[in-house]
Amino acid sequence: MDTIVKGGTIVTPHEKYKADIGIKDGKITSIASNLEANGATVIDATGKLVMPGMIDAHVHLSLPFGGTVSSDTWQTGTRAAAAGGITTVVDFAIPRDRADSLMETVNNRKAEAENDVYVDFALHGAITRWDEESRKEIGPLCKAGITTFKMFMVYRSIGWLSTDPMIVEALEETKKHGGMVQVHAESVDLIDSLIENHSSPEEIKKHGAYLHTLTRPQASEYEAIQRAITWAEYTGGHLYIVHMSTKRGAEMVAEARKRGINVIGETCPQYMHLDDSVFSQENGHYYATQPQLKKPEDGEGLWNGLNSMALSVVGTDTCTFNTEQKALWEGDFRKIPMGMPGSELMVSLIYEGVREGKLDLHRMVAVMSENPAKVFGMYPKKGALLPGSDADIMIFDPDKKYIVDFNQMETNCDWSPYQGKELTGFPTTTILRGKIIAQDGKCVGDQGYGQFIKRGPSGNFVK
Ligand code: URP
Ligand code: ZN
Ligand code: ZN
Repeated sequence: MDTIVKGGTIVTPHEKYKADIGIKDGKITSIASNLEANGATVIDATGKLVMPGMIDAHVHLSLPFGGTVSSDTWQTGTRAAAAGGITTVVDFAIPRDRADSLMETVNNRKAEAENDVYVDFALHGAITRWDEESRKEIGPLCKAGITTFKMFMVYRSIGWLSTDPMIVEALEETKKHGGMVQVHAESVDLIDSLIENHSSPEEIKKHGAYLHTLTRPQASEYEAIQRAITWAEYTGGHLYIVHMSTKRGAEMVAEARKRGINVIGETCPQYMHLDDSVFSQENGHYYATQPQLKKPEDGEGLWNGLNSMALSVVGTDTCTFNTEQKALWEGDFRKIPMGMPGSELMVSLIYEGVREGKLDLHRMVAVMSENPAKVFGMYPKKGALLPGSDADIMIFDPDKKYIVDFNQMETNCDWSPYQGKELTGFPTTTILRGKIIAQDGKCVGDQGYGQFIKRGPSGNFVK
């Protein structure tokens, strides 16, 4: 052993017990009580919880979107992730031009990241067109470790929209190669017509950012979720629904899973901590994201969905835009770059749910570590505290008080959706492959230390 994490309480989805973790060459070698140091570096975890490194399987770093480029880069976004207890992020390779090959897009995205990242990273592909050429890319992409493919049921105007037949065919094709389709489930026709009906200069002036709520009702998400589930049932393909924002959607996923359909649901902290009342606040436009924030009862339904195993994964949909970028809206809700910062506070925000009795502590580890690792083909290299696994570890102080202040954070953003909020419980040390990469909310790792993770088959059914 070259390193020992000593004196902490290990928490996994299944157990909680006191033990030390021995590490050699970046891998876990032993888990036992009172391991002898014998010259190894000792990382003190006394009085703290020791969990597997967290995974944020939904980030968009430096994404060209909404007339600008998201402000968290591979560098700042992965520094923020490390500070928040995250050891692996999964970003998206989205073709810039519809004619671009997805394999080439993936290779470019990987090359962009490789020298910059502070945590390990993997990539989802995104399907924005579907023809013989793109179909033929699915097999080789899966072999190259890209086993998930996001399809957008919205975004017609920017050319990302997937039609129902495209989703059906992609579900069939990915299934053959151990892959999975991820859908951004929103009803394009309903949303586009509501936007058109609410776009008079008078309405834009009167309602401002609140028009996001008026043009994206709950039904605009759950109608699309139900449709995607239908295509998964019809094809037998593996389906993952990203960034779910509605209680009704969570109920639909629960019902489908009971019937044996292979569907996995993801939600994000913002849908459980925030609601659409923010759009009536000063600078309400900062909070515009897609899908839009919904009602308080949706937040409660999503906590319940996570705890009851209807939903299986928490990701953040990090897509950071600073105040100058948000100002591009100039009072018009259609022009706001959509998205917000996320990774750095994911763990602490979800732990709030544990403290409030909405989520079991073991479930927290499942939905942010073991489950994403299993669903996305990275387990047990990632998402596990087991001999042979990567020594990716988060040491978490459940009593540490933390007041959110974007000025003190690693994220490249000059506002926070949670500015001034007091949180209790914070990751104090983040360890990636045996090396400390963050301490007390600051990234102390090395740029480029993060590695690309070639993933195995995706879509394993998890609870
Ligand atoms: O509004 C968001 N979240 N933008 C990023 C793109 C997406 O749909 O996830
Ligand atoms: Zn999306
Ligand atoms: Zn996203």
